Amino acid sequence: MCGIISYIGKSNATQVLLNGLKRLEYRGYDSAGIAVNDGPHNSFVILKSVGRVETLAEIANQKKMQGSVGIGHTRWATHGEICEVNAHPHCSSDGKIILVHNGVIENYVPLKNFLLKEGFSFKSDTDSEVLCNLIAYHYGRLHALMPSKRFLESVRTSLLEVQGTYGIVALCKDCPQEMIGSKKSSPLVLGIHEDELFLASDVGAFAGHTKDAVFLDDNEIIHIQGKNFSIQDFSNVPISPNVETIDWDVNFTHLGHYSHYMQKEIFEQPAALDNTIRGRFSQDDSTAHLGGLRMSAHELRQVDRLLLLGCGTAYNACLVAENLIERYARIPVEVECASEFRYRNAPLEKNTLVFVVSQSGETIDTLAALRESQRKGFRTLAITNVVGSTIARESDGGIYQRSGPEIGVASTKAFTGQVCTLAMLALYLGRMRGMSFSEGCNFVSALKSLSTLASQVLDACDTPIKSLAEAYAHYEHFLFLGRQILYPIALEGALKLKELSYIHAEAYPAAELKHGPIALVDEKYPSLFLATDPLLLPKTIGNMMEVKARKGKVIAIGIEGVEIPSKAYDDIIYLPQMCEAILPIITVLPLQLFAYYVALERHCDVDKPRNLAKSVTVE
Ligand code: M6R
Repeated sequence: MCGIISYIGKSNATQVLLNGLKRLEYRGYDSAGIAVNDGPHNSFVILKSVGRVETLAEIANQKKMQGSVGIGHTRWATHGEICEVNAHPHCSSDGKIILVHNGVIENYVPLKNFLLKEGFSFKSDTDSEVLCNLIAYHYGRLHALMPSKRFLESVRTSLLEVQGTYGIVALCKDCPQEMIGSKKSSPLVLGIHEDELFLASDVGAFAGHTKDAVFLDDNEIIHIQGKNFSIQDFSNVPISPNVETIDWDVNFTHLGHYSHYMQKEIFEQPAALDNTIRGRFSQDDSTAHLGGLRMSAHELRQVDRLLLLGCGTAYNACLVAENLIERYARIPVEVECASEFRYRNAPLEKNTLVFVVSQSGETIDTLAALRESQRKGFRTLAITNVVGSTIARESDGGIYQRSGPEIGVASTKAFTGQVCTLAMLALYLGRMRGMSFSEGCNFVSALKSLSTLASQVLDACDTPIKSLAEAYAHYEHFLFLGRQILYPIALEGALKLKELSYIHAEAYPAAELKHGPIALVDEKYPSLFLATDPLLLPKTIGNMMEVKARKGKVIAIGIEGVEIPSKAYDDIIYLPQMCEAILPIITVLPLQLFAYYVALERHCDVDKPRNLAKSVTVE
């Protein structure tokens, strides 16, 4: 979703901002803009464009701006259509304040009415311009103060009056070497490098410049004056910065020999899975080491129930984990969409342990669910991919999935990383309860074989799935069917196909077919069956025959050596034999490839599907 990068230093701000915006592109956006101190008397020039950052770069490069202070933004439209006027940065109608904003100002209507009466005017339909004018209003009111203090005080007072979420960076015409930032439920991080400072929504925006960063907390205000900065809370109490060194790969945006990030990330899964498990097993005890949970074995044995919360793909990973944890650790598990949990006021049993799962660690619904569960006194742990993300910092402990940066909007390696992490949790909890040493050994071996198996399957499936995609890309509907632990994989396969190719896809437990969805089946409505679960295979074959009897095309994913009668399918992809615990991770791989190749056949933008954002930071 929206991204922020701001810079104050000695280099050409325009180039720093444009590079930063390019690095933020993966979050999803529809317009972009920058403001740089390059006008007469050090005033700020604002440039905006709809569409890609390259378009903005072409406009900016013609201007040859030299200024070394500026702010930049990529916008993902919430309030108001996609157009230049609604793009950020916004400038107050008196020309004093320039602002970029991520999040939503919920009480913008009464504030706008008030500001209109005070003589401010509005060009855009955005809630962000309202905040910009509100800061300008207070700036005007506080004229008795010196500009620097007046700027800080006007931001502070304005933020006390807004409801909603924000990550902001503001500039002031009267203090061109200063900027002010603040956040509430939307990330903002300071990057520090010698005489240069960066304020961004994402550390990736200043990757390559510095690894030293300070993550701001909610209700903190940072005031940058030249090369100095100070942080304070809303009561003006100073806060000492906690400078962290970020461990990142500056090359994460390089595609290498791949055509798309999604393709790269699909094929990175063997290495990513290796990373997830590395150093986390104890061979002697045949269990996992998950010290980040910050809970003793005694405390974990007191847990009567787990509640797993996530959104989208992370929710699907939780559904797989429900099955794994109940089966291997014998602990009852509930799974709920984080977005629903936060408003449901669910009665939870005393010894419930809550886990939130989020690749980005910034998803607002998941963050709100985390806070709601903590508010009610439940210990809330997190599984995240992004180190230092808000969810990682606010949780009471957790596990990093270590899948590496995921740029493609559709989650692939993050999903398998989440399931793998949750499988380690099932092992860890299982070995504290009824799971035997030998069962533990088998589980550990299965997880250790993941990387090799994933690599074999990706290599073997790539070409056949590409051909399959060519044959099926013209259909407008799809059913995905799986049972038990594979039902969430059917959901994930359908989600991938919808997101990437805009084909209508639905997922059901296979046995549910005849309770409704079979009414849809005809020659224009193909079905993809996950027929890799040996236990229920005869029943699944029966369901496949029911579809064939109604002229529906059937694609099956089967297991080598386990026979499926050829009349039950039109096309089949075989996977190698494997332990059941890792079946979901391996079975999803051909579905990711299928969605990828179908989307290519339909000329869709696989890395930036329409309307979607990588990090969903608004409700
Ligand atoms: O960063 P998160 O894991 O919290 O994101 C949750 C969902 O927004 C995300 O999984 C979304 O469904 C992806 N587009 C799936 O491909």
